[in-house]
Amino acid sequence: MENKKGSLLYEGKAKKVFAVENDDSLVWLEFKDSLTAYNAQKKAEMEEKGTINLKIATFIFEYLKSNAVESHWLKTFGERDMVCKKVEIIPLEVVVRNTLAGSTAKKFAIEEGTPLKAPLVEFYYKKDELNDPFISDDQILALNICKEQQTLDQLKKEALRVNVLLKDLFAKAKIDLIDFKLEFGRTPEGDIILSDEISPDSCRLWDVNSQEKMDKDRFRRDLGGVIEAYKEVLRRLLEV
Ligand SMILES: Nc1ncnc2c1ncn2[C@@H]1O[C@H](COP(=O)(O)OP(=O)(O)OP(=O)(O)O)[C@@H](O)[C@H]1O
Ligand SMILES: [Mg+2]
Repeated sequence: MENKKGSLLYEGKAKKVFAVENDDSLVWLEFKDSLTAYNAQKKAEMEEKGTINLKIATFIFEYLKSNAVESHWLKTFGERDMVCKKVEIIPLEVVVRNTLAGSTAKKFAIEEGTPLKAPLVEFYYKKDELNDPFISDDQILALNICKEQQTLDQLKKEALRVNVLLKDLFAKAKIDLIDFKLEFGRTPEGDIILSDEISPDSCRLWDVNSQEKMDKDRFRRDLGGVIEAYKEVLRRLLEV
C-alpha cells in the first residue's frame, strides 16, 4: 500500500518529521535545504541541499543494509522524502573518529588531521540547550540515559562496524572518512537500530589527494562551495 504523509510531528534543523497515515510504526522524514552549525547560531538555506543529502543518505543506508547493518530506513520517495521505522531516539550522539579534527583537535591542542592510533567512539548528550556536551559511560548510566553498560557496548560495537564499512566505501570514492556522528533508536520491539541520517552534514570527508574538505566544515568555516562539495561526494559514491 502506498504511504501517505500525515501530520507534522516535529521540525528539526535539517528535517521535518511527519506521521504516516494509518501506520503508527512509521515516520516520514522530509529533508530540508537548511544548514545550521554551532547549535544553530549559524544558519543558511542552500538550494538542493536536502535533495543531495537525501540521495547520499539513501545510498549509504542501502549500502549498509546490503552489509547486514539494520537501520530505520525503508524507502525513499522523490526529491526530499524517506519513510522510516519510527523509533524512540536514544539521546546520544555516537561519534566515531579516525583522525583528529574539529573540537577534539582543539581540546587537546593537537593538529587537525593527526591520525588516531585506533578508531575512537565517543558519546555526546543530545541536548540543544546544553550544546550537546561530551558524556562519559558512567555519567550515562548514573543519569539513567541508558540502563546498562551492555547497551553502550552494543552502540560502540555497531558504530565501529559502520565505521569499517563506511571507511571502505568512501575510500573507493577517493575520500578519507575523518569522523562522523550516528544516532540510534529503539523500536517498539526493543531492538536498537541505526537511525537519523548519514550525510556530509554529519561526517567529515576529505579528498584523499588534496585533503580538501567535502563536508559541513565548508559551511562552518566559510570556505564556500558547500553544495558543489556535497554534489561531488554524491557523484563519487554513485560511481563506486
Ligand atoms: N526513525 C526515526 N523516528 C523518530 N525520530 C527520528 C527518526 N530518525 C530521526 N529522528 C529524529 O528526527 C529529528 C529531526 O531531524 P533533524 O536532523 O532535523 O533534527 P535536529 O535539528 O538535528 O534536532 P535534534 O537536536 O532533535 O536532533 C531529530 O530529533 C532526529 O533524532
Ligand atoms: Mg540532526
